[in-house]
Amino acid sequence: MDRLILGIESSCDETAAAVVKNGREVLSNVINTQIDLHKKYGGVVPEIASRKHIDNICAVVEEALAAAGVTLNDIDAVAVTYGPGLVGALLVGVSFAKAYAYAAGKPLVPVHHIKGHISANFIAHKELEPPFVCLVASGGHSHIVLAEDYTKFKILARTRDDAAGEAFDKIARVLGLGYPGGPLIDKLAREGNSDAVKFPRVRIDKDSLDFSFSGVKTAVINYLHKQEQLGIEINKADVAASFQAAVTDALVEHTVEAALGAASKIITIAGGVAANSQLRSKMTDTAAKYGISVLYPPPVLCTDNAAMIACAGYYSFIKGDFAELDLNAVPYLSIED
Ligand code: KG4
Ligand code: ZN
Repeated sequence: MDRLILGIESSCDETAAAVVKNGREVLSNVINTQIDLHKKYGGVVPEIASRKHIDNICAVVEEALAAAGVTLNDIDAVAVTYGPGLVGALLVGVSFAKAYAYAAGKPLVPVHHIKGHISANFIAHKELEPPFVCLVASGGHSHIVLAEDYTKFKILARTRDDAAGEAFDKIARVLGLGYPGGPLIDKLAREGNSDAVKFPRVRIDKDSLDFSFSGVKTAVINYLHKQEQLGIEINKADVAASFQAAVTDALVEHTVEAALGAASKIITIAGGVAANSQLRSKMTDTAAKYGISVLYPPPVLCTDNAAMIACAGYYSFIKGDFAELDLNAVPYLSIED
């Protein structure tokens, strides 16, 4: 029997709703991004994000149903991101989903945002099945996980300090490129020389695949200050390319090692940073040397969206993992729970 899941996502600065059939087929995927509103502050302002979610959510959900050519009655369950994320932003989606599910008499399915990111790969690759190793790197998280099952994940490595996306955003800011930094650095780096400056690739200790990006971030900032003091003009494209190379080298090296350790022949990439063109190609080329294939979603399914939430929600739904109407937003939430 076909199952239709309505997904709702509001954990950061995107208000999104989507209808997905049987976890894999996207019937609609509406994303209302607030990026332009937050740009002038150089990052997401939580209070503004919450208010905008309230303004947008009704129209976004209705548009998702209309674009899918369905009504609420046709939906089997309402899946919503309940964490991790900005608590005020999450609460808008959670409250809306609870009211919607209650009014329609449909089950409410709680979805972990990062599990949603990983699940975007099930939409993009219809043949993909667990187990596999996934690098999930976004503005708030950088983990290597083993997807043991559709709903069960084990953390193999994590960042000890900044998330990879956070480092991209910070370096873009100090280079005066704007927000969000990832796509801007990705673009500028194509015109630069990635060997121009050797920024550190940090290995915390030899027994751990954990990441650390605060060192490379500080090294870039120190380099920029030094050049400025010496009166040397900065080649922003070279700095962007060299920084991006350091971050993607670490992401690729650790992930391939994790896949070899887990004897996984598949690596998937997920989260906003998975949209990075160099990360995609470097991961593919490096993994190929070990006979490991690399899969990633198209950019629109890498950054925040609700299709990934509906997909993850589908796999929880078929397991009967429902929430009661006392579901709350949880800003910090482990992927292993
Ligand atoms: O997954 P996402 O949309 O939101 C979070 O859950 O955090 O990820 C956003 C992050 C931002 O830090 C953004 O700079 C980064 O993903 N990002 C990229 C690229 N596109 C988005 N980083 C590197 N290269 C990109 N092309
Ligand atoms: Zn995200």
